[in-house]
Amino acid sequence: MRYDTEGVHINAHGGCVLYHNGTYYWYGEYRNPKKEGTPGTQGVGCYSSTDLYNWKKEGVVLSVVDDPNSDITAGCKIERPKVIYNEKTGKFVMWFHLEFKGRGYGTARAALAVADNPQGPFQLLHSLRPNAGRWPMNFPDSRKTALTSEQMKREIAGNNTWPAIRDGAYTRYNFEDGQMVRDMTLFVDENGKAYLVASAEENYTIHIHELTDDYLDLTGKWIRVEPSGHNEAPALMKRNGKYYMLVSGCTGWEPNDARLLVADSIWGPWKKAAYNPCVGTNPFNNMGPDKTFGGQSTYILSVHGKPNAYIAMFDVWRPKVQLIESGYIWLPIAFENDKMVIRWRSQWDLGVFNN
Ligand code: DGJ
Repeated sequence: MRYDTEGVHINAHGGCVLYHNGTYYWYGEYRNPKKEGTPGTQGVGCYSSTDLYNWKKEGVVLSVVDDPNSDITAGCKIERPKVIYNEKTGKFVMWFHLEFKGRGYGTARAALAVADNPQGPFQLLHSLRPNAGRWPMNFPDSRKTALTSEQMKREIAGNNTWPAIRDGAYTRYNFEDGQMVRDMTLFVDENGKAYLVASAEENYTIHIHELTDDYLDLTGKWIRVEPSGHNEAPALMKRNGKYYMLVSGCTGWEPNDARLLVADSIWGPWKKAAYNPCVGTNPFNNMGPDKTFGGQSTYILSVHGKPNAYIAMFDVWRPKVQLIESGYIWLPIAFENDKMVIRWRSQWDLGVFNN
């Protein structure tokens, strides 16, 4: 549990932390308490801190609206919002996973919003399915034909499900309308290029989409990562020229084992590490690496001014109580013999990065 400076449980789930001009901004899903008739999501909440310990509530920086024609009409789902700052335009750019009202998780769209200030307000631009009509760069020419829904269902029927998904049955089916976006993150590389990284293809395959220089659109360059690997909750970092992507398995709100994907280029090849980076047991719930201490990855935050100081952020989902009460686990990331290690610590402070 983490509390804001007023002593209230922080409401910023599936979030991220942006450092800007001496202040950290923590953005996340601002959930409503479970009351009959209340839509689950209120919007995106923001908290600020200058030390990463004390978090002041800035408020709801993007809110659902009453207009039934808006993509973010009350009752929609806004999940895993991520905010990055564009040096060239001076705008704060937010992308998030959007599900239209009343459609469960079937819409699987990305939405984007912009603001002039980190504390918002963010204005919704639109929502989309990325890269409609564009094939991934790592897709064989022989399979570059779109599939209808019936053709896709035939491909994945019977014993052929996993190979058919691996070979792109969903990619081909989604070709014309654009690819799915569910759990997602944003990653900004050292050269300022940014990427939307999303769980797609019914959560079977991760997609990496390059954003345009203003971060408001897609360049059309994209790849599939770990086809049919069944991963979600991506969180990225880069160290010594290597890219690391932490992901989880797909078990709804229940925790599972974290997985690590590593690459020398954002465009791959991405290889699944043979080990789980989590080590130890969370004594509060007795959960170890096979359950990611009870959490699910959402972001890797880089501590400003401290080289190689990375913090892995996890959500502890509490759907049975109510999602607004979901907790947070933040742990320092270490590298031991070039292996990523996220060791359980019941208590720690930023001093761990001095060693
Ligand atoms: C797991 C995802 O990681 C969450 O963000 C959320 O979408 C749940 N699934 C919904 O079941």
